[in-house]
Amino acid sequence: MAKRQIDIVAEKMHLNENIKKYLKKVERALIVSIPIMMDDGSLKVFEGYRVHHSTIRGPGKGGIRFSPNVNLDEVKALATWMTWKNSLLNLPLGGAKGGVCVDPTKLSRKELEKLTRRYTAEIINVIGPDIDIPAPDINTNSQIMAWMMDVYSMQKGRSVPGVVTGKPIEIGGSVGRESATGMGLFYIIDALCKKENWSLKSSRVVIQGFGNVGGNIARILYEHGVKVIAISDVSGGLYCKDGLDIENLLQWRDNGGFLNEYDNNNYEFISNEDLLTIQCDILIPAAIENQINISNAEDIDCKAIVEGANGPTTPEADQILRKRKIIVVPDILANAGGVCVSYFEYIQDIHSYFWKLDRIHQELKNILVNTFNDVYLLSKKEKVTLRIAAYMIAINRLARAIELRGIFP
Ligand SMILES: NC(=O)c1ccc[n+]([C@@H]2O[C@H](COP(=O)([O-])OP(=O)(O)OC[C@H]3O[C@@H](n4cnc5c(N)ncnc54)[C@H](O)[C@@H]3O)[C@@H](O)[C@H]2O)c1
Repeated sequence: MAKRQIDIVAEKMHLNENIKKYLKKVERALIVSIPIMMDDGSLKVFEGYRVHHSTIRGPGKGGIRFSPNVNLDEVKALATWMTWKNSLLNLPLGGAKGGVCVDPTKLSRKELEKLTRRYTAEIINVIGPDIDIPAPDINTNSQIMAWMMDVYSMQKGRSVPGVVTGKPIEIGGSVGRESATGMGLFYIIDALCKKENWSLKSSRVVIQGFGNVGGNIARILYEHGVKVIAISDVSGGLYCKDGLDIENLLQWRDNGGFLNEYDNNNYEFISNEDLLTIQCDILIPAAIENQINISNAEDIDCKAIVEGANGPTTPEADQILRKRKIIVVPDILANAGGVCVSYFEYIQDIHSYFWKLDRIHQELKNILVNTFNDVYLLSKKEKVTLRIAAYMIAINRLARAIELRGIFP
């Protein structure tokens, strides 16, 4: 899917064939084995990956995912999308991604810590503040980043907070990082509503995913008085045409509850598939890839899709949505708030000087809204989708960097 997207955009922007060839390949991909002594005395060996798609514009940057579906191809695609995202935002960073093929819900805390520490030790030569800076993604969080930073620091013999972002604030994390992707989505949705002359306040929103991204955007919208009429997690979703009580649902989630166990007579239980086709104004897929595809694109019933997840819409679905005049704000723009504040965290660590939340929000809003406006303008000028326009900006910047640096040797 990531490669097909490059082909589509390359054709539109008459990209030099050599640059296209270059950008379709990842720079390096590391596969590691992670042997773990389990609590019951048995040994399990997990497989992990760290991929650098491009470090042309700066150190690699991208999250680490713990999930049973992780595989090398997925990580390569995710690393590629990180390159576009960082280039689109004009951050001095490349694109990377990592993951371990594991179901972390089946591990004890001790096993999870061992897995994280051994994985970090195995990839230690390809990460570092000047090389590649991991961050949280699906099923990883600030605690996991703290363990990663500790392993790296122990190896170096000094504290190196800048090796990962999304750390706890007490050890060099940034205020506002935890909710940054949700906050960024909010700024983008607000900017979109302004451009399209829609009222954000009276919009009805559906969200797939109730983790970091889905949960935070749900909370922020709810706090702004916007109705979230459906939301789901891996167990399924809840629907209420008058709007869900997101505050209560977040409490339920934080106490370990799944949405399919939530008891409320006013809410209807729905599957993840049905949730995507509910009639609404804005649909936010914020869980996993390939959710909007050829099988359901004709049935999507909203004015705009704002991609919280990475890669939730397939290229085939994109074409159908375009014909149906449904606006799609692409992942590399919509969910870029996370990497943007990760970049702020990285800068703060280097300078050992920490910003206040107001500054984080102001700088985040500036970057995202300016980028959104550039993408929107280009899409109108070139009569292309927002995704193609965003890719054109990102790939142009990379192509220029490749031209300037030349190809070694
Ligand atoms: N965390 C970030 O800062 C960040 C930044 C940019 C993009 N993203 C992307 O956003 C997406 C979600 O990441 P996250 O950090 O919120 O992860 P998370 O682990 O915090 O939450 C994932 C959510 O999706 C649900 N889910 C998992 N599998 C599902 C399935 N098969 N069907 C439906 N729901 C399912 C989970 O129950 C959970 O509610 C991913 O695509 C990730 O790459 C995350």
